[in-house]
Amino acid sequence: MAFTAEKEALVVDSWNAMKVDAAELGLKFFLRIFEITPSASGLFPFLRDTSVPLEKNPKLKRHAMSVFAMTCEAAVQLRKLGRVILKETTTKHLGATHAKAGITGEHFELMRYALLETIREAVPYMWSPKMRNAWAESYDQLVEAIKKEMRPVA
Ligand code: HEM
Repeated sequence: MAFTAEKEALVVDSWNAMKVDAAELGLKFFLRIFEITPSASGLFPFLRDTSVPLEKNPKLKRHAMSVFAMTCEAAVQLRKLGRVILKETTTKHLGATHAKAGITGEHFELMRYALLETIREAVPYMWSPKMRNAWAESYDQLVEAIKKEMRPVA
């Protein structure tokens, strides 16, 4: 099914509303992930061996914003091009980084769930099944692009 301009707008408009409070959003997103799977925090090198509290960790916020912003960008591409095309260097780098960090399909599923729940709580007045599906489709296609470049680490 085509990724329509309506779907693109559902993602872009809600992202524009949410990013006003990016720090809070990013924190809630990751707290949700770690609440469901506490061991996931061990995947992030910058969370190991640090006394910096989660909410003050700039790298965690940066990762959260990458996920939101790149999913939004994926929605724009899906509408324009019908598929997600990242710069080759970006996909290769993201594929390699995530493979090296031991990220699995289950982690991507966990993040997908947390992403949708975080959005639902952040903009309840915009939330609808259509909006949920537009975010989910964009996220899934983005993850497919990253996974294609994830090779087992020797
Ligand atoms: C690193 C994006 C999913 C864990 C990164 C980086 C980006 C990124 C941009 C930084 C790469 C660099 O600068 O070297 C994304 C996107 C995702 C996604 C767009 C999904 C659409 C996940 C998931 C997990 C995860 C599901 C685990 C639950 C990590 C880890 C690193 C990383 C552990 C390396 C951090 C470090 O070494 O400092 N990701 N990520 N990512 N990501 Fe993701």
